[in-house]
Amino acid sequence: MAQTRKAIAWIVGASSGIGAALALELARHDWRVVLSGRREELLEEVRTRLPDPSLGLVLPLDVVRIDTFESAAERLWQAWGPPDAVFLNAGIYEPLRDLRLDPTEFRRVWEVNYMGVVNGLAVLVPRMAQAVEIRRRQIFITSSLAGFRGLPQAEAYGPTKAALINLAEALRGRLESQGLELRVIAPGFVATPMTARNRFPMPFLISAEDAASRIRLALDGKRFLIAFPRPLSLIVRSLRFLPDRLYFALLRRLGAVGRSPASPR
Ligand SMILES: NC(=O)c1ccc[n+]([C@@H]2O[C@H](COP(=O)([O-])OP(=O)(O)OC[C@H]3O[C@@H](n4cnc5c(N)ncnc54)[C@H](OP(=O)(O)O)[C@@H]3O)[C@@H](O)[C@H]2O)c1
Repeated sequence: MAQTRKAIAWIVGASSGIGAALALELARHDWRVVLSGRREELLEEVRTRLPDPSLGLVLPLDVVRIDTFESAAERLWQAWGPPDAVFLNAGIYEPLRDLRLDPTEFRRVWEVNYMGVVNGLAVLVPRMAQAVEIRRRQIFITSSLAGFRGLPQAEAYGPTKAALINLAEALRGRLESQGLELRVIAPGFVATPMTARNRFPMPFLISAEDAASRIRLALDGKRFLIAFPRPLSLIVRSLRFLPDRLYFALLRRLGAVGRSPASPR
């Protein structure tokens, strides 16, 4: 009897937080998972925690270096073949605690969060477009609810997440013609190493496991934007329609200007 092929998910940014939780979640639901990031030892540790570690493949890479992305893709195609779903989830966050606008820091965040995704797309799109044997080929970009309006202290981070949404909107239709589905994940506050050092209350905070389960449940759907948790998503997205004057007044009232921010990472 012919064996059914197990679907493959390639998770970039799988060594901790949402990506690591997503790897475990998908592996528990019969996916093979490819684990990427810079820290190989952490990726290996995630792999050993899978229900069946032989269904995990560790391919270290640095999203800033397209050559490492290219060779990881090469190794994946050789070992297992093309993936059904790719999660471009790597990201870094540096709160801007004072008004020193250090261009080096802005560039560093941009290189990882935005150019890291562009590097991934550049490597993946031509390869995945050819993988016509895969029934559904999806690419997920992890943005953030912080990408919907400018938030104090997220001056370096927020624009990268806003740019990812814009990029995905622009590209989605064009990739569709290649048989690829481009979708955006926009989480609110998720308890991960990234948010662990936040010194302010994080409304509607959810666990990385909860985030992973929401992402998995969205996989079978068609929605372009996978935003959660719902109450925070509705609040933040509706802020786009608030007149600027009221938006800035609200930020002042929340004490977000000049003091602690309350922005989803
Ligand atoms: N936590 C939240 O509240 C929240 C909210 C909205 C959106 N997000 C987004 O969700 C994604 C995951 O964040 P997280 O909260 O799970 O944070 P995290 O635990 O710090 O995970 C970040 C992941 O990105 C990887 N990464 C960072 N720089 C990289 C690079 N140059 N090359 C390859 N991988 C790199 C890290 O792996 P290595 O360090 O091993 O390379 C790690 O696996 C990020 O894009 C973040 O912006 C998070």
